[in-house]
Amino acid sequence: MSDTTPQTTLAELDRFIIGQTAAKKALAVALRERDRRLKVAEPMRSEIGPKNILLIGPTGVGKTEIVKRLAKMVEAPFLKVEATKFTEVGYVGHDVESIVRDLADASVNMVHQQRTSEVQDEADKAALDRLVGYLVKGDETPAEDGSKVKPNQKTVLRRKRTAVARRLKNHELEEDVIEIEVENDEGLANVLEFVSGMGSDEVTEQFHEFMHTLNASRQRMRRVPVREARKILAQEEANKLIDFDRVVDDAIHRVEETGIIFIDEIDKLITRGGDYGPDVSGEGVQRDLLPVVEGASVATRYGMVKTDHILFVGAGAFTRSRPADLLPELQGRFPLRVEFDNLTEEDFVRILTEPENALVKQYSALMETEGVTLKFTDEGVREVAKFSHDLNDQTENIGARRLYGVMEKVLENVSFAATEHKDETIAIDAPFVRERMAGVGRSDDATRFIL
Ligand SMILES: Nc1ncnc2c1ncn2[C@@H]1O[C@H](COP(=O)(O)OP(=O)(O)OP(=O)(O)O)[C@@H](O)[C@H]1O
Ligand SMILES: [Mg+2]
Repeated sequence: MSDTTPQTTLAELDRFIIGQTAAKKALAVALRERDRRLKVAEPMRSEIGPKNILLIGPTGVGKTEIVKRLAKMVEAPFLKVEATKFTEVGYVGHDVESIVRDLADASVNMVHQQRTSEVQDEADKAALDRLVGYLVKGDETPAEDGSKVKPNQKTVLRRKRTAVARRLKNHELEEDVIEIEVENDEGLANVLEFVSGMGSDEVTEQFHEFMHTLNASRQRMRRVPVREARKILAQEEANKLIDFDRVVDDAIHRVEETGIIFIDEIDKLITRGGDYGPDVSGEGVQRDLLPVVEGASVATRYGMVKTDHILFVGAGAFTRSRPADLLPELQGRFPLRVEFDNLTEEDFVRILTEPENALVKQYSALMETEGVTLKFTDEGVREVAKFSHDLNDQTENIGARRLYGVMEKVLENVSFAATEHKDETIAIDAPFVRERMAGVGRSDDATRFIL
C-alpha cells in the first residue's frame, strides 16, 4: 500500500486550502479506499466499486482548488474536465468517452516518465560512453598495414578517453560541435507525438504497427553541440532500456484500477426549458455519461479500457438547481455527497495569509522584485477580509475570488508606482486599506469587483 494515508492527504491539502475539512476528508478517504481495494483478494475485489463523490457548494469556496491540488498529489492517473465542454456548440454529441481516452494518454505519459527517470542514471552513463566514442575516434581497429594496434597505443587511447570523459563530466566541452549518429529521430518523443497527434478513433493495431517500425529505425547523422548530443543520446539510451509494451500495459492497468476523473461544473448539465440555447442538451450529455460512470469498456488506442473502477468526482455550485435535478440514474452513481461551507471573514483572513500561495505572499514576492518591501499588518489583512466579506454580502457572493479584486484595488497605486519606492518598506495597515477602499461598496463601483 502506498504510504499516503488519509491523514497525510489531509495535511497536504491543508497547506493550500483553508477549512472545508469535510470535503478534504471525504476525498482523502476515497483515495485510501482505492489502495485498500487493491489489497483485497478476488473475487471480492471486483465487487468493490468506487464511491463516486459529488462536491456541492457555492462559488469560489475551493471546490476546484481542492481537486487541482489533489491532482498534483496523487500518483494515480488523473483527469479533470469541465462538463460544459460537452455541451458547447460544435460538440454535436461527440463522445463523452473521450475522457477515458484522455485519461489513458495521461497514464501512458506518466508511466513513461517514471520509467525514464528510473533508467536515467544508466542512460546517462551509456550516453557519456557514446560521447567519448565520438570525441576520441576509436583507433583500436588494426592499422592499415594489417598490423595489430601496439599495446602502448592502446594505453594512450585509454588515457585520452579518460581525460575526455572527465572534461565531459565537468561540462567543459558543452559547446563543441560533434557529429552523432541518431536513430530515426527521437524514439519515444516520436511515440508520444504520434500518440497525441492521433485521431481518437484510431486504435490498437496501428499503435503496435508503429512500435514495430520504431524498432526497424534507420540511422542518420546530425551535427549538434555536445550539450544537445548529451540529451539526444541519453534519451535514445533510455528508450533502449524501456519496454514500451510494458509501459502501455502498466498504464492501462493503472487507469482501470486507480484512475480518477473529475467532472467540474456538473450542475451545468442541468438544462431547463432550453436555458442554454443552441447548445447540445445537457441532459443528453448526462445520458452519455451514465454508462461511463457505471462501468463500460471504452476503445482507446491502447485497446479496451474498463471504467468499472475508475473513481468519478463531480463538482458543482448547484445554485440554480439541486443535485436532485440531475437524471435520477446519474444521481445514483454519485452516492457520496459533500457540502462545502460558505467562507467566513475569519476564513478570508487565513486564505489571505496562510496557504503557501497566499495572496499576501504573492504580492510581497512580486514587490520584492522591485526592491519594495510590503509589510501587511494583522489589522490591514483583517480589513481586506472584512471588506471582501461585506462586498460579497452586499453584491454577489463570489467567495474567495472576491479577495483577488479587493487586493488588486488596495495595492493598485503601490503596484503602479513601485519603481519610485525602491528600497522602501510600505505598511499595509488598516488605515491604508480603508483609504484605498473608501467609496467602494456604497456605489455601483462595487460591480467592478465581480470577477
Ligand atoms: N477554502 C479555500 N482556501 C484557500 N483558497 C481558496 C479557498 N476557496 C477558494 N479559494 C481561492 O479562490 C479561488 C476560487 O476557488 P475555486 O476555483 O476552488 O472555486 P469553486 O469552489 O470551484 O467555485 P465555482 O463553483 O465557481 O467553480 C481559488 O483559486 C483559491 O485561490
Ligand atoms: Mg470550480
